[in-house]
Amino acid sequence: MTEHDESADQQLKPVDVIAHSALPVAGLMQIILGHWGTQVVSTLATLGIPDSLADGPRSAEDLAEQHRADPRALYRVLRAAATLRVLDHTEDETFSLTEAGHFLRTDYPFSMRYNAMLHGSRWHWDPWSLAPEAVRKGGETFSDHHGLPYYEYIDRHPEEGDLFDHAMTAMAAQAQLLAVPLHDFGKHKVVVDVGGGAGVVLSNLLETHAGLRGVLFDRERVVDNAKGLLTEAGFADRVEFVPGDMFASVPGGGDCYLLSMVLNDYNDDKARKLLENCRAAMDEDATLVLFDMVIPGNGTPSFATLGDIECLVVSGGELRTEPELNTLLGSAGFRLEAVHRGFSPVCAVVAKPE
Ligand SMILES: C[S@@+](CC[C@H](N)C(=O)[O-])C[C@H]1O[C@@H](n2cnc3c(N)ncnc32)[C@H](O)[C@@H]1O
Repeated sequence: MTEHDESADQQLKPVDVIAHSALPVAGLMQIILGHWGTQVVSTLATLGIPDSLADGPRSAEDLAEQHRADPRALYRVLRAAATLRVLDHTEDETFSLTEAGHFLRTDYPFSMRYNAMLHGSRWHWDPWSLAPEAVRKGGETFSDHHGLPYYEYIDRHPEEGDLFDHAMTAMAAQAQLLAVPLHDFGKHKVVVDVGGGAGVVLSNLLETHAGLRGVLFDRERVVDNAKGLLTEAGFADRVEFVPGDMFASVPGGGDCYLLSMVLNDYNDDKARKLLENCRAAMDEDATLVLFDMVIPGNGTPSFATLGDIECLVVSGGELRTEPELNTLLGSAGFRLEAVHRGFSPVCAVVAKPE
């Protein structure tokens, strides 16, 4: 055998192909083509197909007629969704929801429909195509693409704003609520929920602790929505609704200040300003609680490292390690007391005024 033949032979050994080539390449291809799956699931959610499958299997033709879609194109998307195990595809050419597929229904408990729609939507997705630029300049590309930072953009585009709010509300019910038991909110009298969104977390706190009162502080449009939800839940008389800009000031009067999935939206300079505004509103013995994903550091793989890139590209913010949070909190007049980790990637970070 010539030297050349030997190397060709080595390249063809199945064991090498499996151990050193096929699996890593297949895995890499899956990552490279991840947006195919995102778009298939987002398309189903946007068209409302999972809602139409809630009562059982249906054919592509039947669904296409209801949703005024092209039957062949819809069939192909349904078939792809079956490969992703979001749908089941039967031999008689009908489609039904798998266990995961039900979570794309609007009315399903812990529905992820709006998150699927948000992350596949053109306006939210397009800035990701500029991710290399975000890395070059070290900041968000959302405003490069849309001409406005994220929150200003959704204020001026109500449909997109509604989608974002719905997605955040669903995320809060999935992830943030799992962080609630990590801190004893029962020892507080008034929780000021800064950037409290639709009030999912505050509602849960008020339900769990009968003696607790709350302040829901957010942008005007968001506070108006939250008022409806918290009133419906029967908590209106225990909540003060305060619209405003947290970068101008934060309401006083609380003995606990909660920033739930808020700090990650900002770079260190803006995050420090926000923390300083909280500190200025707080008494010496008040408590600051952050619900945030905390990056484990030391090279440990973590979902939070990917969420961090969403922050970089979309809002210009970042997720932080415990030492980074310690430094940031210290620079804004706080002492980091504890980082409590639970079942979800969202941790409860507790700090006290220095
Ligand atoms: C990622 S969401 C988190 C919502 C909620 N705390 C949760 O855990 O689901 C960030 C929130 O910060 C609010 N926000 C953004 N900029 C703000 C500002 N300048 N002043 C007050 N709230 C703001 C947004 O409206 C949004 O509700």
